Amino acid sequence: MKQTVSHAKRLRGAFSVPGDKSISHRSVLFNALAEGNAEITGFLPGADCLSSIACLRQMGVEIEHTDDKVRVFGRGLRGLREPSDVLDCGNSGTTLRLLAGLLAGQPFLSVLTGDASLRSRPQRRITDPLRQLGANLDGRDNGNRAPLVIRGTTIHGGNYELPIASAQVKSALLLAGLTGDAPMRLTGKIVSRDHTERMLIAMGIDLTVKDDEIVLYPPSHPVFPYPLSLHVPGDPSSATFWWVAAAIHPDAEITTLGVGLNPSRTGALDVLKAMGANITISNERNEGAEPVGDVTVRGGGLRGTRIDGDLIPRLIDEIPVLAVAAACAVGETVVADAEELRAKETDRVATVVSELSAMGASLEATPDGMVIAGGGELHGATVQSHGDHRIAMALAVAGLVAEGETIIDEAEAVTVSYPTFWQHYAQIKEA
Ligand code: S3P
Repeated sequence: MKQTVSHAKRLRGAFSVPGDKSISHRSVLFNALAEGNAEITGFLPGADCLSSIACLRQMGVEIEHTDDKVRVFGRGLRGLREPSDVLDCGNSGTTLRLLAGLLAGQPFLSVLTGDASLRSRPQRRITDPLRQLGANLDGRDNGNRAPLVIRGTTIHGGNYELPIASAQVKSALLLAGLTGDAPMRLTGKIVSRDHTERMLIAMGIDLTVKDDEIVLYPPSHPVFPYPLSLHVPGDPSSATFWWVAAAIHPDAEITTLGVGLNPSRTGALDVLKAMGANITISNERNEGAEPVGDVTVRGGGLRGTRIDGDLIPRLIDEIPVLAVAAACAVGETVVADAEELRAKETDRVATVVSELSAMGASLEATPDGMVIAGGGELHGATVQSHGDHRIAMALAVAGLVAEGETIIDEAEAVTVSYPTFWQHYAQIKEA
């Protein structure tokens, strides 16, 4: 589908963005292992999270799902059954990697695959450590690409030092550790989004998080994990599209209600503040294991900044749209230490640089990021999402301030994480 977008005279709105993608995945994957039933509201009905539901159903998990409400009938830590066909994770790296960990210790064979983008993404980051813990799994390219084949076996505990800050890798190992025969200790780059740790603790799992290590004791009692009913907060990664839209537009005021404000996810807010954006956070509260609040951004000028180091894992998914903010800012923005961008749904260094260049932005790729010379005027163009949801939405935001019309090819990619994106896009322009 091609979507034509154009310059907005003003932007107004106060609304809730859909539920957090990472938490939605975990809410169904973890509750499937619980002894009992859980009710989830605010669930993201995006294609990625629907892939997690479909895979679990293939392993005998009963799941009722309407709109943003889900009920999971947990089968217990040892209650999954061998799927009769390959498990299709679609576009979802979270589904594939978390399931690989979860299935490593289940007593049956499973095969995980996905779409062309997912099959091209690196998997040795999970297959190597899982093999070290005793898992029996393989894949194309000596275990580096899906399809992955997992012959469930006994997982051993032990120490593993994480070489990359990846929540998917960390979570895969912790899920494997749940069925392990000894405690698991993770050290190294353990700081990345921590929804898994928060949720497993809330489900009664003996897991301790310190500055430099995470230790998990496999549950010895069959009632663990407890089911965890929860309301999923709004996804800060989705809200960032509107925060940037408001920050780069001279006549804008947008409030996103009930957004997750977990510090491991709020790097984009810190960067926008450093760029001089006018941001107010109100109504801060805790919902279950996660902090949430309302975020209002008003239009104004931005200045360039540096995005690197420890900030990167806190905003990795937001870099495409932060690049749009940087293109509209005064001065230069440097993104560094972000080589992980090249291993996402697309090589996001390459796709951001090619598509924003087509709209008149002045930016250059570097091995671990990009350099953006702000201040130029953006103009409409025909651009490609490359089937990447976050590229489609970042380009739509750029189109709000570009001169003339922008045509976005493969715009339906937004359904992966934000099925109502185009409705909200129309609303903020019309309000
Ligand atoms: C995710 C972790 C991040 C992020 C992805 C979702 C998760 O990847 O980019 O969209 O739900 O755990 P990493 O595994 O690289 O941290």
